[in-house]
Amino acid sequence: MQTVHSLDPLRRAVDALRARGSLAFVPTMGALHEGHLTLVREAKVRADHVAVSIFVNPLQFGAGEDLDAYPRQLERDSALLEAEGVDVLWAPTVDVMYPVGFASNISVSGVSEGFCGASRPGHFDGVATVVCKLFNQVRPDFALFGAKDWQQLAVIRRMARDLDLTLPMADNIIGVETVREADGLAMSSRNAYLTPEQRAQAATLPAAMKTAIAAMEANESVAGVLARLEATLLSGGFSAIDYARLADADSLAPLNARGDGPMRLLVAARIGKARLIDNMAVQPQ
Ligand code: PAJ
Repeated sequence: MQTVHSLDPLRRAVDALRARGSLAFVPTMGALHEGHLTLVREAKVRADHVAVSIFVNPLQFGAGEDLDAYPRQLERDSALLEAEGVDVLWAPTVDVMYPVGFASNISVSGVSEGFCGASRPGHFDGVATVVCKLFNQVRPDFALFGAKDWQQLAVIRRMARDLDLTLPMADNIIGVETVREADGLAMSSRNAYLTPEQRAQAATLPAAMKTAIAAMEANESVAGVLARLEATLLSGGFSAIDYARLADADSLAPLNARGDGPMRLLVAARIGKARLIDNMAVQPQ
């Protein structure tokens, strides 16, 4: 595996790979877990070569968020990626990504606005801007993202379509199902912020979501089910709910009743120092 920290060596490395076959790309912020590694394995199935980026992107963290606390463990991550057979690790510094004078911003309206976009103003501008840059830097044939960050995936697909990003095309942006711990908690680098007690309580989130989905699919009123879901989380150790809503799976338009197209239940809730997000499919009527 070749590790590169600046643009010229990155371009040489990815050009050499592309000359010998297809290239898949997995962007990450590091502190890798099985969720990330599942994306890497899926990338290897889809393409001849795999590039992974690790960059804790300051643009997508708001004031008072966990930019400084975000776990950074490049040596450990690098060993994990090497063991997976990754070809190139792109690990730029903040100065390389955002040189002095950097002044551009990509803002995707609509799909960015509710849910995490409402609780974290500017977050998806930061994500869209860095992912657009990463795509232009690596120029992959495919890019893989986790369904765990459902809204992020929708924002990136919208951006790729709207801006005619040639590589990867929106259809070549591949969503990979959420990887979970044995008790159902979605794997996340932020789970490391939890104390053992909070970690145990955090499993209430996927369990309560499953219960809520079963009730919605049994035609209980969506509003009543969501109110019960929030109450269960608050009594199960969560301190606040940023949102718990049913939405159209593609546009993320909130729904007050179960519809006849693809839908997701999306939740963001706070426990201890962590803000956890999760989402699951809800079957159409
Ligand atoms: P990060 O949180 O490191 O996640 C990198 C990728 O791994 C994302 O596509 C995310 O959805 C996926 N992922 C995380 N946990 C997962 C899980 N439990 N199961 C499946 N996939 C999972 O998301 C980001 O970084 C950043 O916003 C980024 C896209 C890199 C832009 O900075």
